[in-house]
Amino acid sequence: MRPVPMSVFAPLLACIFIFATFAPPVLHAQSAVPADAPYKSSSASVEQRVTDLLSRMTTEEKATMLSGSGWMESAPIERLGIPAIKMADGPMGVRSWAGSSAVTNAGKAAQVLATSFPSGVAMAATWDTALVEREGQAIAQEVKALGRDMILGPTVNINRVPLWGRNFEGYGEDPYLAARLGVAYIKGVQGEGVIPSVKHFDANNEEFERHRIDAHIDERTLHEIYLPAFKAAVEEANVWTVMSAYNKLNGVHCAESVPLLTDILKKEFGFKGFVISDWGSTYSTAPTVNAGMDLEMPGGPPMQEWFSTGQPAAAGNGAGWLTAEKVLAAFNAGEITEATLNDNVSRILRVMFEAGLFDHPHVAGGEVDTPAQKAVALQGATEGIVLLKNAGALLPLNAAKIHSIAVIGPNAAVARTGGGGSSLVKPKYAVAPLDGIKERAGDSIHVRFELGVGMQGENAALNTPEARAKMLQAATEAASQADVAVVVVGRYPKLETENYDVKTMDLPDGQDELIEAVEKANPHTIVVLNTGDPVTMTKWLDATPALLDMWYGGQEGGHALAAVLFGDANPSGKLPVSLPKRFEDSPAYGHYPGENLQVDYAEGIYVGYRYFDTKNVEPAFPFGFGLSYTTFKYSGLKVSRYKANGSGPINIELALTNTGSRPGAEVVQLYIHEDHPAIDRPIRELKRFQRVELKPGESKTVRFTLDRAAFSYWSPEKKDWTADPGTFEIQMGSSSRDIHLRAPLGFKD
Ligand code: BGC
Repeated sequence: MRPVPMSVFAPLLACIFIFATFAPPVLHAQSAVPADAPYKSSSASVEQRVTDLLSRMTTEEKATMLSGSGWMESAPIERLGIPAIKMADGPMGVRSWAGSSAVTNAGKAAQVLATSFPSGVAMAATWDTALVEREGQAIAQEVKALGRDMILGPTVNINRVPLWGRNFEGYGEDPYLAARLGVAYIKGVQGEGVIPSVKHFDANNEEFERHRIDAHIDERTLHEIYLPAFKAAVEEANVWTVMSAYNKLNGVHCAESVPLLTDILKKEFGFKGFVISDWGSTYSTAPTVNAGMDLEMPGGPPMQEWFSTGQPAAAGNGAGWLTAEKVLAAFNAGEITEATLNDNVSRILRVMFEAGLFDHPHVAGGEVDTPAQKAVALQGATEGIVLLKNAGALLPLNAAKIHSIAVIGPNAAVARTGGGGSSLVKPKYAVAPLDGIKERAGDSIHVRFELGVGMQGENAALNTPEARAKMLQAATEAASQADVAVVVVGRYPKLETENYDVKTMDLPDGQDELIEAVEKANPHTIVVLNTGDPVTMTKWLDATPALLDMWYGGQEGGHALAAVLFGDANPSGKLPVSLPKRFEDSPAYGHYPGENLQVDYAEGIYVGYRYFDTKNVEPAFPFGFGLSYTTFKYSGLKVSRYKANGSGPINIELALTNTGSRPGAEVVQLYIHEDHPAIDRPIRELKRFQRVELKPGESKTVRFTLDRAAFSYWSPEKKDWTADPGTFEIQMGSSSRDIHLRAPLGFKD
């Protein structure tokens, strides 16, 4: 779609002017606003303020509020003192931005440098809800310090396909885990009076043709897999805004889907905030407004300039549909009712009052990347590292015993902090694995770096046969001369990014060969994955003694890695996604990326471990898995105080003991299994988890409470969640495939 020239609107604007002049007076409209107007008083309730302010607005002013005034700003209404909502991209920190928003913020096109937190999948690997809440809080503080009001995150889309370009942003494959972390992030952000936007609603699970692809998902799968994180964001965190997704869902673009925005989000979940479009995801005026899309972004001159290039329309973007002109025209044509317009505007105002934007505007100039914020980034990066293999207890390295380390690989000397696209934060500094290792190794350990292979697509000069042979030779030589070799492999923002899916699960060119060669040269080789997506490891995994997944660890990734390598930190990360052996083994294989712009989610509810465990397909590493330098014992499972009919809380407890010699943390995972389900069900589903820290020899009682909802599934017949009477099993595990304790449980009706 090409932008409509402004001249086209001239006759329309004239009509609007005539209409406005001769229309019957609206209560308060255009009159001077008294200083004691209720909406100006912070002691009035939010609803009183919304009602009062709305009653003072003209239809034109209301229509103006439905689209942005800039790339990252909603429209201010000066007459009434309604400020613009100033946004910033996230979710892994405040993304550097340029153009209108930087002008608003700093008076010039500023480069914003902020703390780069670990990617979403890395934070998910911590399974630490308290930490994610603190991350949300830290990011919100940076948003405020930069004079902004809103952070575009968290991303809670489910990692359905190993090739999704935004897997690094998401919270993994399990809806319960994604829900817990999303709720924590939102609470952290909103607690600071900053507006989050949980995104992308819904089913943005691939980047392939993301503006045109139509995801076909049955109702049960939607409710069990793709909606729970959004439902929890609304019902448990009372989230202030939801961002609609680019894609179509069951035939309709998400931004104009009545079932999605009105029926599910607003009616079923009871969402009271506003829906914001993804940037350039609207295709109509009245159908979009009537479906419940409240604020179109971007808007104003930056939107027009962007769209005038023709490139966004060619890519499938839509924009400029909720401009005041178009909304008024649809309103005057009777296609949008006053009640609808009032509802849209009330929602935006409600959030602004809730966040306190009228009472204490955020002023730029505060400190960013404070020691406290950096500490959260470091803790996230550290807790998110997953130890996948540790044969012969190669790790942790004993600094007193080793004299030399060869640090090798295209991701070793460069800090690859995150994936590409709107979430990539420019930090003030970033610690590469090599920096972290050198710093920790000190003077007594010699650290030699070799690239080994150039990163695919980065430097053509490194891609000649001669250059490659030379680099490989130098790497194997370095490895053979060192006590241990650390090979850091993975991708970077150009290969793993929003807007494109990853082409193959295989590591980029030459990285498998590099690992194989280094492992031959030195049996004490530690492979480190620095990527957000699962990668194929079959070529070298059997020969690899030690394997770590550091994901994209943000600016402190290198420090975190060094701490884990040397045992200053005991790894406690657990996989938030199953790592398949091959792409062909993954549940969505054959149902991705779709044909003729339609993608059928034919695997249904069998996403991730629900598929691997139920269908007996062995992954390389299962969901929930992660080793530690210590060991844990699960014992004494008690399931008590439940009523036979399943009403009332079910209390569960067990003892967890650190049986090793180091302090460490274990993530205790509670799965439920139903014996003879009336409906096809996964063999197990995650329902609770707890990250527990224990000193050596220490034992703690770990408690969980379940309600009957935890046993339910979405019934397509009843169109509701339902728990049938039957026999269940409570399974306590350290991964979906390491179940240590089981207890039966039955319900009768
Ligand atoms: C992304 C959103 C992002 C928005 C604004 C879109 O391309 O999908 O996640 O918040 O751009 O930058």
